[in-house]
Amino acid sequence: MDGDVSAVLPADEGTVLAGGNMNTVVRQGDSVLRVAGRWTPTVHRYLDYLARAGVHGIPRPLGIEGDRERLSFVDADVPVYPLPDHVFTDDALVEGARLLRRLHDASIGFGLDGAVWQAPAKVPSEVICHNDFSPHNLAYDAAGHIVGAIDFDFASPGPRLWDLAYYATRAVPLTDRTPPNAPDMADAERRVRLLLDAYGSEATWADVLRVAIIRLHDLAEMSRDKAVELGNPRLADDADGYEREAAYLATLRD
Ligand SMILES: Nc1ncnc2c1ncn2[C@@H]1O[C@H](COP(=O)(O)OP(=O)(O)O)[C@@H](O)[C@H]1O
Ligand SMILES: [Mg+2]
Repeated sequence: MDGDVSAVLPADEGTVLAGGNMNTVVRQGDSVLRVAGRWTPTVHRYLDYLARAGVHGIPRPLGIEGDRERLSFVDADVPVYPLPDHVFTDDALVEGARLLRRLHDASIGFGLDGAVWQAPAKVPSEVICHNDFSPHNLAYDAAGHIVGAIDFDFASPGPRLWDLAYYATRAVPLTDRTPPNAPDMADAERRVRLLLDAYGSEATWADVLRVAIIRLHDLAEMSRDKAVELGNPRLADDADGYEREAAYLATLRD
């Protein structure tokens, strides 16, 4: 999710980090505090599982303190909107796809007994999806290389294509309102193929379009619910944007 924060945590106990929309994140030295949810114990177990499987550049869970979780600080740049140029290079697109593949592969074997997720599970539950895998949740080094990912709050079991299609909508990007520093839709199909190749997926451009449309409608519904829950009207605006993008992609599909 992108956008602004509404204060949930007192800012005087650390530095409030920009970029969050669902959460207010406070940095305290090498760690961050985020608001915890029912799903947090499962997400922590999942982050430990990924680390054990050899994934680097992701937050390590450091505990739950009352209604907050403590995670290690990922020491790299997480971009905010408007996204910087380096996010839209072919190299960055490929690096993100490879990281997504590593995350998905590393999730294989994660035990689902007793798991509580914020986002519903989807069929086929091939892997644990990140469910918000986008430049705004990726960590970049000073040279613009992707070194990690954050914000696993929406993770849940699902198909690989669920994350791939959403990543394509944000990073290719697939939208009728391309940011001025991003490749436009004339280059979209080539970039989607590049992404799928880098991931090692056999999905097609048509598969990505089909799932992206569903994914954007799903996101719009979730953003509308969250707008009410968090009293944040910007999330309702986001929902309108997702629906407009879905309608545009449907014109390409049809
Ligand atoms: N573990 C972390 N390491 C480094 N920065 C973080 C971490 N968690 C959050 N942040 C920072 O806080 C911002 C918002 O956090 P995020 O977890 O993405 O919240 P939201 O769910 O609101 O999107 C991010 O853009 C990033 O700058
Ligand atoms: Mg985020």
